Amino acid sequence: MKLLVCGGAGFIGSTFARQRLHEHDDEVTVLDKLTYAGREANFHDFAEDPRFRFIHGAIEDRAVVVAAIEACAPDAVINFAAETHVDRSIANPDAFVSTHALGTYVLLEATRERGTPFLQVSTDEVYGSIESGRFTEESPLAPSSPYSATKAGADLLVQSYFHTYGMHAVICRGSNNYGPYQYPEKLIPLMILNALHGDVLPIYGDGMQVRNWIHSTDFAAAIGCVLERGRPGEVYNAGGPDEEANVTVVRRIIELTGAAETQIEHVADRPGHDVRYSLSSEKVRALGWEPRVGFEEGLEQTVIWYRENRWWWEPIRSGDYRAYYERHYGRSLAS
Ligand code: NAD
Ligand code: TYD
Repeated sequence: MKLLVCGGAGFIGSTFARQRLHEHDDEVTVLDKLTYAGREANFHDFAEDPRFRFIHGAIEDRAVVVAAIEACAPDAVINFAAETHVDRSIANPDAFVSTHALGTYVLLEATRERGTPFLQVSTDEVYGSIESGRFTEESPLAPSSPYSATKAGADLLVQSYFHTYGMHAVICRGSNNYGPYQYPEKLIPLMILNALHGDVLPIYGDGMQVRNWIHSTDFAAAIGCVLERGRPGEVYNAGGPDEEANVTVVRRIIELTGAAETQIEHVADRPGHDVRYSLSSEKVRALGWEPRVGFEEGLEQTVIWYRENRWWWEPIRSGDYRAYYERHYGRSLAS
């Protein structure tokens, strides 16, 4: 297949691009704005592949999107492009509204004109928080943060294009991802790098919030499965095999890195903090997908990857991320 992967310079999009090139022999064009989270370094092992091409541009820029679609004549458009950090959405929702609402709209319009199949990558956070049991695709949308609310808005727009125009559009909603190439503002890479540097490990509130962890290669495979076998107009949830409280994840990272328990500090809780996410993935499993990486094994591999790939995170940790960290946590990172 020829694929246009929007937001493919980020954590999961680049994992998906790598998987499609290496395991499926697809042609991949990435369209990405290169925000703070998008990095050409994520293409390091396939940048020279003749089946790969990178176009720098924003999904809300109609001229760029139309030119990209004309240039690669894709068999499908997959939209990963997003602002993805809940804390940044609380501090300033601007870019979240523009990328998720306007950007998704522009992509839908440009794809509809050509009749190209469209896959929207979404999140379990659109369902809000669940105390017990699991969200299914029929669960109502009840997002809590500007991040999840704007992602839910994008999902509704995608579904409206299926209902109104008969567009070939599907949605795949993932649970919390972890793995190599994740920007260190997110829980797992932040705690790994802080642990390795002797920095404080800042747990929000009591740390008893639960996340349903999925390895990024498993989520990328679920998206590939939905792309190949999903029914237009449908939503497919892809949740990982394990659920853990944040404090348990941090304690395990301390064991794997040799850091000290005393590095843990309970800091002010996130406003509107969702207590638990959990996804039922029966529908995508029925298409033939299943997660391959257990959390214990995946977390250990992820710690090893961050230990061995200083070249990847060093420019981030010594760049703008420092200022973000100081603003958000009110303290500096160790150098
Ligand atoms: P990420 O922040 O690592 O990457 C996002 C990418 O989108 C970056 O390369 C960025 O430059 C690009 N981008 C942002 N705004 C853009 C715009 N206007 N135009 C073009 N490109 C733009 O995020 P990620 O973790 O890889 O998430 C990818 C997708 O998966 C998102 O849609 C997210 O909502 C969804 N998702 C993420 C998780 C998770 O745990 N990380 C879980 C479920 C779903
Ligand atoms: P995060 O990685 O931001 O993902 P999400 O908010 O999309 O679930 O956070 C995962 C969990 O970790 C969430 O409950 C918030 C918590 N957390 C902390 O306790 N400390 C931190 O410094 C961060 C970034 C997150």
